[in-house]
Amino acid sequence: MQLAEKMSRIGTESAFEVLARSRELEKQGKKIIHLEIGEPDFPTPAHVVAAGKRALDEGWTKYGPSPGFPEFREAIAGYISRTRGIRVGGENVCVVPGGKPIMFFCMLAVLEPGDEVIYPDPGFPIYESVIRFLGAKPIPVPLIESRGFSFDLTALRDGLSTKTKMVILNSPANPTGGIIPKEDLVKIADMLRKRDLLILSDEIYSRIFYEAEPTSIVGLDGMLEKTIILDGFSKTYSMTGWRLGFGVMPRWLADAVNQLTVNSNSCTASFTQRAGMAALEGPQDCVTTMVTEFRRRRDVFVKGLNEIPGFRCVLPAGAFYAFPNITGTGMPAKELATLLLNEAGVACLWGTAFGRYGDGYLRFSYANSLPNLMEAIERIQKVSARWKSGS
Ligand SMILES: Cc1ncc(COP(=O)(O)O)c(C=O)c1O
Repeated sequence: MQLAEKMSRIGTESAFEVLARSRELEKQGKKIIHLEIGEPDFPTPAHVVAAGKRALDEGWTKYGPSPGFPEFREAIAGYISRTRGIRVGGENVCVVPGGKPIMFFCMLAVLEPGDEVIYPDPGFPIYESVIRFLGAKPIPVPLIESRGFSFDLTALRDGLSTKTKMVILNSPANPTGGIIPKEDLVKIADMLRKRDLLILSDEIYSRIFYEAEPTSIVGLDGMLEKTIILDGFSKTYSMTGWRLGFGVMPRWLADAVNQLTVNSNSCTASFTQRAGMAALEGPQDCVTTMVTEFRRRRDVFVKGLNEIPGFRCVLPAGAFYAFPNITGTGMPAKELATLLLNEAGVACLWGTAFGRYGDGYLRFSYANSLPNLMEAIERIQKVSARWKSGS
């Protein structure tokens, strides 16, 4: 028996590969500092955990409606309407197990073989993976370091064609921590307004920002009817293992996504949705505390990275990733990441794990304690003699 041909086109996330290698080294007794993982290191807020436990005790342990519980969908619609300056209702909301199913289901629902999809490069690797899996054509558009990792807008315009079915935006972004400024979004909206296409706006890091609040393209003129907002609870409320996310989209597409849910996972866990309700409607100081701590770490860690010979790192405006340019080391990124893991015990990812325009960069997640981050810098400093001397 052979796997279906399309399985030869599906990709993966290198973070899991590096994690496996790190675990091997840990078994040999090495202390590894994990900066490869894309999840907050904070516990899920206590009031959210309590709501989840209460829900289990109260019997929220059965199937629920495929699109999500109506009151939860309404609460999400209210939250998105308030924060994005639009008006949507519960019927526009699909509750799914994490943010990822929104990208998978929406692409599955609309992409035909040969359709073109524009996406950020370096970007979340699952975009390209799913595009290829479905037989569509990936059109990577470079993000530019000197523009705070916003798009090269000319390349974006040049990438558009009559076959473009979808444009993916991700702000704040993985892996760069960049935020697309409002003036760029206005220009992007102008390019897309008259075209028959969808925008997948991945806003999973929408609450993790350090200066100006990110703008969503959905609020710009003419964008509501063509935009899918992907958001969820994984990052904002440190709930990666609960598997809870949602999409907000035009009704016709929401209906299709709900049908895909019926045909796959049936529904999202009922007690998890109750916990999500508590997260959304309860006190929000847990988010502020987490972001304040991320900011403190970002400032120390990025300063430290900039002191390493051959490294140059822009201050990321959001998410919890630093994406230093390492071309000054003269080493290819994957080789350098491997050296850092094996010789310094610092796990990180190489930029090309996020696309070819990630060449010359490393990704570090600073979702780790300040002492660990400082130790990581010290360890990298120590091994930097290896590239300083050119050996
Ligand atoms: C840009 C981006 N989108 C979506 C996701 C998926 O989030 P979830 O764990 O909720 O599926 C991630 C997770 O790392 C991400 O970085």
